Amino acid sequence: MILVTGGAGFIGGNFVLDWLKENDEKIVNLDKLTYAGNLDTLTRLQDDPRHIFVKGDIGDRGLVSDLLGKYRPRAVLNFAAESHVDRSIHGPGEFIQTNVLGTFHLLEAVRAYWSGLSDVDRAAFRLLHVSTDEVYGTLKPGAPAFSESHPYEPNSPYSASKAASDHLVRAWHHTYGLPVLTTNCSNNYGPYHFPEKLIPLCILNALAGKSLPIYGDGQQIRDWLYVTDHCAAIRRVLDAGAVGETYNIGGWNEKTNLEVVRTICTILDEIRPRADGKSHEMQITFIQDRPGHDRRYAIDASKIQRELSWKPTETFESGIRKTVEWYLANAGWVKNVTSGAYREWVEKQYGI
Ligand code: NAD
Ligand code: DAU
Repeated sequence: MILVTGGAGFIGGNFVLDWLKENDEKIVNLDKLTYAGNLDTLTRLQDDPRHIFVKGDIGDRGLVSDLLGKYRPRAVLNFAAESHVDRSIHGPGEFIQTNVLGTFHLLEAVRAYWSGLSDVDRAAFRLLHVSTDEVYGTLKPGAPAFSESHPYEPNSPYSASKAASDHLVRAWHHTYGLPVLTTNCSNNYGPYHFPEKLIPLCILNALAGKSLPIYGDGQQIRDWLYVTDHCAAIRRVLDAGAVGETYNIGGWNEKTNLEVVRTICTILDEIRPRADGKSHEMQITFIQDRPGHDRRYAIDASKIQRELSWKPTETFESGIRKTVEWYLANAGWVKNVTSGAYREWVEKQYGI
């Protein structure tokens, strides 16, 4: 039995689906079901006894302690977080609440549970904390990609809150001996990605004939990883990662935002052409830049490849095509998760 937090979100949801495809070990899935958590992602597990869903907050120490006591997991995987940079600029409070305080309460509940385990179970137990490359800050053009020893220089409220959570996890290992693993991953994309993020937003806007909003000059660089490759990396770290270590995970796929959006347009021009025969690229609109926008992220994933033999299986070309096709085939999922309130803020902030 493992306990997963945030397993109704984008990466957590893909992880839960993948895990139960790969093996029969049960999952307790604790998720607060914020705007980003969506049980529609997990409908195929509705009658699956291997998946136990619990609606709740990682910051609710009593609830987490009860779940740990009841289900006795051998590992806790923490995906739960507020994850969107723009939202963190708009309202950082929730990010501090969940990403910092929530992680603290989770750590304390896990530490109490872990301390009471038998020697054998205590040695085998793991807390795996899922984090981001954004904690490292921004890279200059041509600078080497982020390795695990790169200094933490978070620039947004989101990345600062994730950096704080990473530090707490590290400290709970060094001070209390809690057997932790931390992963820092680059930008994910793929099925079940909430359409506030660049890739799903642009796919859906392109289909709807709306503008494809590019912040600033569109030359910012992200390193894209197909989500199921990230899930496989996390399983590998859980199985074989060295306690107390951090592992960078990335796709070796540095792309400018403009390149990413143009690729989406090219695929749509081929499989879902506009009625007027023009390219979807005509919908690209350059708008006001994100405040404090990091220019470049890139992950050096050689440690996890060398030590744990993990490497991505999807190229950006294969993954982005699968992703576009998934959104075309899953309009019902999109309809259920889209809310109006946030788009209103985006319109006000960025003038689109
Ligand atoms: P997401 O926003 O899609 O999902 C987050 C999930 O956590 C949602 O289901 C939400 O309901 C749940 N949640 C939020 N607050 C909670 C709380 N207090 N208690 C319990 N559940 C709560 O995020 P995601 O993109 O799937 O990211 C998952 C994790 O991976 C995050 O920790 C994020 O920082 C990290 N990460 C994301 C990316 C990426 O590209 N999306 C890359 C690297 C790391
Ligand atoms: O690097 C990992 C991080 O990737 C994760 O930790 C975060 O949880 C995840 O949200 C993601 O952060 P980004 O800010 O990089 O993702 P987003 O999809 O919001 O933006 C990707 C890039 O595209 C970024 O440079 C901002 C730009 N962008 C984004 C949106 C939503 C635009 O140009 N236009 C847009 O409308």
